[in-house]
Amino acid sequence: MPGSVLKDVDDLSSADELEAAESLICCIPTWNTGADEDRSGTAWDQHIKDIPTMNFAGKTVAIVGLGDSASYGDFFCDAMEELYTAFVQSGANLVGKVPTDGYTFNESKSVVDGMFCGLPIDEDNESDLTAERLKSWITSIQVKF
Ligand SMILES: Cc1cc2nc3c(=O)[nH]c(=O)nc-3n(C[C@H](O)[C@H](O)[C@H](O)COP(=O)(O)O)c2cc1C
Repeated sequence: MPGSVLKDVDDLSSADELEAAESLICCIPTWNTGADEDRSGTAWDQHIKDIPTMNFAGKTVAIVGLGDSASYGDFFCDAMEELYTAFVQSGANLVGKVPTDGYTFNESKSVVDGMFCGLPIDEDNESDLTAERLKSWITSIQVKF
């Protein structure tokens, strides 16, 4: 992806900086277990409220989630779904859905129509799978960026 820039979401001045991008890969952790909103504990929680009022039509967006499938197996990577839904409401083209095969968890809000709405990464229990998961995901989405 030529011209890509890595940014810490907590360093963005506002969600307007997101709108300026041509396309986005957004990484979001899940905290605040079991709550209905504000699940990331990062600036994403505010941006998720702003993004649906913005226009991302024509922009491609993919989501990566960080979670812990052993300790929080009923809420695995829930925050991905909040971000996914916000971007859907903004008109963005969401790519990078992932089959649930190979993950061990009970429930996740981020399973949308039978697939994870982004790539779940579990560094707490399955860090040995991270490199391979990222590699095959990037391969699957790169033609869309
Ligand atoms: C207080 C707390 C609550 C958490 N809640 C969840 C949760 O609901 N779902 C989940 O998948 N992971 C949960 N996690 C695990 C984190 O998402 C996981 O450790 C993640 O990798 C953290 O990334 P970070 O340290 O970069 O924020 C929680 C962790 C803590 C400490």
